Amino acid sequence: MKAGFIGAGSMGSLLTGSFLRAGAFSPSDLTVATRTRSKAEALAERYPGLVVAPANILAAQDQELIFLCVKPLDYRSVLDDIRPALRPEQTIISITSPVTIAQLEAIVPCKVAKVIPSIVNEACLGASLFMFGSRLAAADREALMRLFSAISRPVEIPEQEVRAASDLSSCGPAFMACLLEQFIDAAASTGMDRQLATTLACEMLFGTAHILQSGFCSPEQLQKRVSVPGGITAAALEELRRATDGAFLRVLQTTHEKFAEDLRKVERSLRP
Ligand SMILES: NC(=O)c1ccc[n+]([C@@H]2O[C@H](COP(=O)([O-])OP(=O)(O)OC[C@H]3O[C@@H](n4cnc5c(N)ncnc54)[C@H](OP(=O)(O)O)[C@@H]3O)[C@@H](O)[C@H]2O)c1
Repeated sequence: MKAGFIGAGSMGSLLTGSFLRAGAFSPSDLTVATRTRSKAEALAERYPGLVVAPANILAAQDQELIFLCVKPLDYRSVLDDIRPALRPEQTIISITSPVTIAQLEAIVPCKVAKVIPSIVNEACLGASLFMFGSRLAAADREALMRLFSAISRPVEIPEQEVRAASDLSSCGPAFMACLLEQFIDAAASTGMDRQLATTLACEMLFGTAHILQSGFCSPEQLQKRVSVPGGITAAALEELRRATDGAFLRVLQTTHEKFAEDLRKVERSLRP
């Protein structure tokens, strides 16, 4: 299967690298075009055989899959570049939440899927969020999910839930890293070696995710199991609950407000 990638920033590089390391593509299956050519050339250097296209249209032409890995307000110019090369049998995979499937289907003649990856897909972990356009047949949907299963756990979601789902799946690693950093800072402030604190914190987070993901216990049960009534963890959990009360409601309110603003900007930029 041949695929073109437009955009070789954080996510374009992550997806190409993860797919190649997982063996889902060979380097010669991939063509990458991006604004700053040196970023695509760095990928070709790392994965010999990967093709660098000097123009966006050349990364779209004759590809079965075309990944759009640019920011929402860059869609207009990328779509204008590639539209003359697009054919109905090709599939565009958009990885950004504020550009809707309906907007893309109104502009391009091909099939459209929205797939929101996560930075943790770099380690072939975490979910990828799937939303399918009306032109994809069942076989196309299955093939796409199979492809992403090489680097993630594909999960289909309704498009209207993309913000909250992305908050958990894609913004979540940053939120958890922020909390972990504060935890490490606090441990280091007691005189503990920072590197040791970081190792212990990372092992703890990985183990916690594993035990919760395996269904061994729920988040609520886990807290109960670690807290002996009247013990140290129980007292500290009370303090943590007080300190973080409503924090994630405010976090999601912030993401939703920013998303509404982005939707308005994208709507203006994609108007015919
Ligand atoms: N970061 C995440 O964890 C994450 C997770 C899920 C989804 N996403 C979505 O992924 C998208 C890309 O995010 P990112 O973090 O990869 O951004 P990024 O690092 O800024 O990468 C965007 C890339 O697009 C290139 N570009 C911009 N305009 C272009 C054009 N007209 N033609 C060709 N290439 C162009 C940029 O080129 P330059 O190098 O010249 O700037 C850059 O390499 C965003 O829409 C974001 O919402 C991100």
